[in-house]
Amino acid sequence: MNESIPHGGKLINRMNIMASVDFSLNYVQLDDLELSDLELIANGSYSPLEGFMRKIDYDSVIQNMRLSTGIPWSLPITMAVDKDKAMELKEGETINLIHNETVYGVMEVQEIFLPDKHIEAEMIYQTTDHAHPGVKKLFDRPEFYIAGPITLIKRPEKAKFADYFLDPIQTRKKFKELCWNTVVGFQTRNPVHRAHEYIQKSALETVDGLFLNPLVGKTKSDDIPGEIRMESYHVLLENYYPQDRVFLSVFPAAMRYAGPREAVFHAIVRKNFGCTHFIVGRDHAGVGNYYGTYDAQKIFSQFTEEELGIKLLFFEHCFYCKKCENMASEKTCPHDSQHHVILSGTKVRQMLKNGEQPPKEFSRPEVVDILIQGMKEVYTIN
Ligand code: ADX
Repeated sequence: MNESIPHGGKLINRMNIMASVDFSLNYVQLDDLELSDLELIANGSYSPLEGFMRKIDYDSVIQNMRLSTGIPWSLPITMAVDKDKAMELKEGETINLIHNETVYGVMEVQEIFLPDKHIEAEMIYQTTDHAHPGVKKLFDRPEFYIAGPITLIKRPEKAKFADYFLDPIQTRKKFKELCWNTVVGFQTRNPVHRAHEYIQKSALETVDGLFLNPLVGKTKSDDIPGEIRMESYHVLLENYYPQDRVFLSVFPAAMRYAGPREAVFHAIVRKNFGCTHFIVGRDHAGVGNYYGTYDAQKIFSQFTEEELGIKLLFFEHCFYCKKCENMASEKTCPHDSQHHVILSGTKVRQMLKNGEQPPKEFSRPEVVDILIQGMKEVYTIN
């Protein structure tokens, strides 16, 4: 038995959905990223975190990729407030956490601190370039961070594909019901193309089940919206995957585009969901040219397999080779790159927007049809 133990030893539960709201408390407004982090802390996806990070953990994560306890953790999970709010709040005070005039949680403010965002940008994103979407978001946020344990008292509404939002406790139960001892997690913010399918199925040759866990929180504006992607996942799974070997639910976190650091974070979270294995391919969670193709694999050498508690499955850049008449990579294909079908994400999105079909060696036609139709609707509405 290969059971996956939650990161830090136990699954955190910071939910008290029946709690009544105390409107006399001071409050802080959450943005979309903070609201999704609040729920993911509360439901144990971010175990062992129990709240937004204190300075000691924030500094330790930035400098050493570990919490102050030494447990691996690669991204700061923080809540930002402006100077006026920082002056108004008192350490030790309990506050309401509000989004669009609804109270979703409470927080015990243990600490208020001023981060050095240049250091955060350099260490997390490896750049301070504001053209990087993660860096831009970081500098657009208010300047102070407030830290302390949270409790979720209301679940954020799930307007779309509500049945696919599962907490770690539910996915763990599901994997048990399916009798999967080994489960490989797959993160994606894209439709599943042939290269994704190839690496998923290669992994599936050696483990019991595939957990397809697309990220559906905030992504940059030119990424394909979650609702269109979900439709494309369904058609692919129905037609090309054995139903008893794959399970789909969504990951409602925001995308940070932090490349290597985010790959570590993605792996740890999937461990909390119950995965024993996690796939990292080419330029995982990357954007533009900020990271090297395999940096998100190399970063894992800074941890032992034991302390991470999840096995990494690394894949080379894969493509269809017309000579091999098969999916392949530099590791398995002897032919020149002129025979390889390789398209950038930007190029594919442009083709889909124009109603053009990317080649079937790149993406299954059933998937392409849904994406073209979906993009048409998005661009007619906007
Ligand atoms: S990500 O931002 O969520 O990482 P994407 O959805 O493109 O982006 O990738 C999902 C996973 O598939 C990542 O592990 C990524 O490294 C991997 N991947 C994407 N395309 C390829 C490819 N052509 N070859 C190998 N791995 C790939």
